[in-house]
This record gives sequence, C-alpha cells and structure tokens, in this order.
Amino acid sequence: MSVLAVNLAEDSYNIHIGRGLLSSLGQRCAEVGLSSRAALITNPTVNAIYGAIARTALEVAGFTVAMIEIPDGEEFKNAATLSAVYDALIEAAIDRKSCVVALGGGVVGDLAGFAAATFLRGIPFVQVPTTLLAQVDSSVGGKTAIDHPRGKNLIGAFYQPHLVLIDVDTLATLPDREFRAGLAEVIKYGVALDLPFFEYLEQHAEDIIAKDQGSLEYVIRRCCEIKAHVVELDEKETGLRAVLNFGHTLGHAFETVAGYRELVHGEAIALGMVLAARISAALGHCSAADVERVAALITRLGLRIVPPVSDRVRLSEAIITDKKSRNGAISFICNQGIGNFAVEHLVPEKMLTLSGLEV
Ligand code: NAD
Ligand code: GLY
Repeated sequence: MSVLAVNLAEDSYNIHIGRGLLSSLGQRCAEVGLSSRAALITNPTVNAIYGAIARTALEVAGFTVAMIEIPDGEEFKNAATLSAVYDALIEAAIDRKSCVVALGGGVVGDLAGFAAATFLRGIPFVQVPTTLLAQVDSSVGGKTAIDHPRGKNLIGAFYQPHLVLIDVDTLATLPDREFRAGLAEVIKYGVALDLPFFEYLEQHAEDIIAKDQGSLEYVIRRCCEIKAHVVELDEKETGLRAVLNFGHTLGHAFETVAGYRELVHGEAIALGMVLAARISAALGHCSAADVERVAALITRLGLRIVPPVSDRVRLSEAIITDKKSRNGAISFICNQGIGNFAVEHLVPEKMLTLSGLEV
C-alpha cells in the first residue's frame, strides 16, 4: 500500500492506495479523527457491489451509517439530486460532527463533495473512488460540483476531503468502457506534464489494458502524485492548475452537445486532447509527429480519436458557456511538445478552425 500526502496547510490529507482497502474504511476514518455518524452516499450500481463492505467497515469502527443512494449517471449530477441528498442528510440527523463518505465514481464524488461543502456550511468528507477516472483525478484536489442545464460543473466549491481511500481491487468490476474512459485522464498527465510518464504509458499500454496489477497501481500512484503536486502549488486554480484542463475545453463541449450517454466524460476528454494537440501544432507548440504520438497512444489505450459530427454553432456556444471563458476568449491549454504545456487565449471559432474539425 502507498500513502501520499496532499500538503495544503490545515486542509492537508492523505491518499491511501492499495488492494483490499475498502474493508479498512472505518478504521481509516477513525484515524483521521472522524467518529459518530456517516452518510454513505453512493448509487445503486456501486451499492450493489461495494455498499455492504463499506457500510460494515464503518459500523465495525463505531459509526452509525445512513445509506443515501443517488441515481446512476451524469444527467443526475444536478440540483434536483443535490436537493434530495440534503433532505436525506436532514432525515438522518447528520450534524457537524458527522461525515459524508462518497463511494463511487466522479459523479458521486463531485455531488457528495458539494453536498458536504454546503450542508451546515461544511461537514467532513471522505472520498472512496471506485472508477479509474475518480481514482486518478476527481477524488483528489477538492473540486466538487453539480452540472447546470447550460453547462458542466457550473455550480461548485473547492472543498478538500479528510481522506481519499483508493481500493484498486474495485476496478475489477468496472465496465471496460469506463476503464478506458479513465485512461483519458491518465494520458492527460503524461501529455501536458510528464514525458517520462507518457513514455511509461507507451511502453506498458498492453499491460494497462489487461489491468496488470503492478502497472495499474503504479499508474494510479503516479497520477495522484502529479495531481497532488499541482494542487499544492495552485489549489484554487489561479494559474498552474488550469493545466489539468488539457483536453477539457473541447471535451466538455462535445459532452454537452453529444449528450452524456453518447460520450462518457473520459471519452470526450480523449477527443478533446487530440484536437488540443492539433491546435498546439497549428500554433507551433508541438510537431505533427507529436500529434500522431498522442493520437496513437489514445488509440492503443482503446479510446476513439474521431469526434462525432457536431453542429459548429452549438459547439461554440458550449465552449463559451464553459466556466473558463473570459470576455469571449478562452484560456486554452496546449501541449508544448510532449510533457509540457503552454497557455493560449482563443475565441471558440478560432479554436474550432485550428483544430481542423469538420463541422
Ligand atoms: P461515473 O461516476 O458516472 O461512473 C461511471 C459508471 O461506472 C457509473 O455507471 C457507475 O455507477 C459505475 N461504477 C463506478 N464504480 C464502479 C465499479 N467499481 N464497478 C462497476 N461499476 C462502477 O463516471 P466517472 O468517469 O467516474 O466520473 C465522471 C465525472 O467526474 C464527471 O461528472 C466529471 O465532470 C467528473 N470529474 C471531476 C473532476 C474533479 O476534479 N472533481 C475531475 C475529472 C472528472
Ligand atoms: N480535473 C481538473 C482539476 O482537478 O483541476
């Protein structure tokens, strides 16, 4: 097992990564000073597989547990579901000494985290991510949010968890499509921040796809290390942290326009990264060979690189509604070669033209 520290002064916490950790959930919550009641927020899919283990682990450590289920799917990461969660928290007499435990993927983690950030002006929160995407990205760093009909993650808060518990064994039941989607965020770290890690992914692509335990644990640990480092330097995204949005500007736009069932988050990010690499090449930040290399790795890791045909006006609107827009121009993250990044300010039309997208 590895333990990584995220050093954020009084909001510091540890990320535990290893196999079979779920059954130690209660003990580890107690170790960070939590006790009394826990609201275990999950969805029916994850609850059916891991709910009982998580609940028992908490109860054995002395917690009174209230199970709160939210429907499964990005389309439920919204204000109506959040409101139902507040109702359930009140019903379960959750108070400031209690904690919220998010058991599931990024949807559960983002919504449960925002509920914890806002309920009673903030109660302690624990992340137990069960998708690859949540283990390498969304559970670390304290971004919590719900979506608005006009765009993703428009309502949210920075709110750090007390603990992140990553049980790599939970990936065994993750559908292949979701596993591959998580690899998009993994690739992101390599392309925008870490050439040796990108090379590791190239060298171990087949092992990773085969869910080889050693490779998987290394990948998850390295992603968490990179993310923790970025978050430590720029927790509230005043600068550097925006690099983690590599591939997300166009990715979010595709997600919004295509619909959340057509493209899951990671699939949209993979498309966004290929287009971001093309834009980077058009602006002289990387070579055509770099673009090919990025696209080749994305393909080898089982993700598609050809976007669905989408309406240009709707894509532009979706880009501009994205929270990172400033007076029409978007801070756009380019890859500088592979393993580095550069920031450009682009209006959506120019972005779409430079990407070579046929719309
Ligand atoms: P998700 O939460 O929808 O989970 C994907 C699917 O896998 C769901 O159907 C879920 O029920 C199922 N599932 C989860 N764990 C499982 C398991 N172990 N076995 C079987 N099935 C399992 O999707 P996701 O990709 O984890 O998260 C996407 C969300 O994360 C998006 O809303 C995105 O905006 C958000 N996100 C947030 C951040 C952040 O920093 N907060 C970063 C990246 C993405
Ligand atoms: N996933 C982007 C961030 O955490 O900043």
